[in-house]
Amino acid sequence: MGDRAVAAVILAAGMGTRMKSALPKVLHPVAGRPMIQHIQAALAPLKHARTIVITSTGQDDVRAAVAPAGSAVQDPALGTAHAVLAAREQLKDFDGTILVLFGDTPLLKAETIQAMAEIMEGPDDPAVAVLGFRPDDPAAYGRLITDGDGTLEAIVEFRECTEAQKQIDFCNAGIMALDGRVAVDFMDRIGNDNSKGEYYLTDIVAIARAEGRTCVTVEGNPEEVMGVDHRGKLAEAEAVAQRRLREAAMAGGATLIAPETVFFCHDTEIGQDVTIEPHVVFGPGVKLHDNVHVKAFSHLEGAEVFPEASVGPYARLRPGAEIHQGAKIGNFVEVKKATIEKGAKVSHLTYIGDARVGAEANIGAGTITCNYDGYFKYRTDIGAGAFIGSNTALVAPVTIGDGAIVGAGSTIAKDVEADAMALTRGDHTLKAGWAARFRKAALAKKAKK
Ligand code: UD1
Ligand code: MG
Repeated sequence: MGDRAVAAVILAAGMGTRMKSALPKVLHPVAGRPMIQHIQAALAPLKHARTIVITSTGQDDVRAAVAPAGSAVQDPALGTAHAVLAAREQLKDFDGTILVLFGDTPLLKAETIQAMAEIMEGPDDPAVAVLGFRPDDPAAYGRLITDGDGTLEAIVEFRECTEAQKQIDFCNAGIMALDGRVAVDFMDRIGNDNSKGEYYLTDIVAIARAEGRTCVTVEGNPEEVMGVDHRGKLAEAEAVAQRRLREAAMAGGATLIAPETVFFCHDTEIGQDVTIEPHVVFGPGVKLHDNVHVKAFSHLEGAEVFPEASVGPYARLRPGAEIHQGAKIGNFVEVKKATIEKGAKVSHLTYIGDARVGAEANIGAGTITCNYDGYFKYRTDIGAGAFIGSNTALVAPVTIGDGAIVGAGSTIAKDVEADAMALTRGDHTLKAGWAARFRKAALAKKAKK
């Protein structure tokens, strides 16, 4: 089972006008990834599969997003069968299983696609397998007409249904598997004599039955086949995707104190015995190793956090932040493109960008790496065991040697050698009694006026 070649045709033509967006619908992200890439990810485990994405004219952004998958253009859009036939050239000599998927169903799972591919290799050698589901509200979905033994006789589009057919609650999710040896021939016979004047792919079932071929259904979960065609549905899909990611994190051994307040990206990697406190948001490219603690209200993207390190509360890790073992990033600290080595502490109110902070170094509150002159970025290198006093500006490019101490309030624009002390501070002027004399004189002057 599962040995037949698969060609997946993902229908993505049209802008999705109800999204009211300049961005094609299938490129709207769910869990930080365009919807159509979720379908591609669900197809990835299939063996011997290739993908063809059907777009409208000019959708170069969609083609770029799905590359290296192939594409074909359907223009004008005359219905779902017409859309699949836009890939006629790629499909005409293909004798494996053709899977037809929609680009706007980001929640479809790999195992459901696998089940569709496998049933095509079953003993009754079906010509068509259709993913059916039982929605709470069958609304305008196509209805699946099955006979007593469960085989599929026809799909009737809602607009063409009789009142009795509208009572059927088993609906077409739109995902289909077709026998590649006959699919193009059968699709060529589909007409457009219906209320929408469209070539309905769903008509392939009646054609296959008339040829004496078997058609079958696979029942899917309504949540998985949900199509996104407006922003409300996009938010619903996001909620489901987030719930799945939270469940996966917890199943992998992470503690989420308030899971419903933590937002992951599709690619967030989380080790064991990680604790994530409430209200943490993950952008793309974050990896948390075992025993990491992320405290409340932190935002992480493009960052790697090594074992026993802690981040937050209220921390921001930006792309290229590497927080090594046991290091501490505290409140209101921003780290960008910087390595914080083992055991180093950056505890409060600090910006570290384009930098290295050596092992066990201590960065005082209010330290800023001044990495940008308005045109170029420069590096700051802080050695192991260095101590940077509070409210220090490190004007890059600058190197602070191992074990050096920088006095609080300094502006350091020259390198500091290892084990040295550097301090830049204005002179301390002290005049005993001056304030009292000043007050007395000022009060006297005011009383005269
Ligand atoms: C389709 C099914 C219906 C099913 C429903 C599930 C048909 C005829 N009907 O109806 O039985 O219950 O999906 O959601 O297949 N597309 C193109 N080119 C076209 C037309 C559509 O690429 O010419 C793409 C769309 O971008 C969309 C998908 O195909 O991703 C489905 O098209 P849509 O018009 O939404 O079909 P429904 O009327 O929802
Ligand atoms: Mg639809």
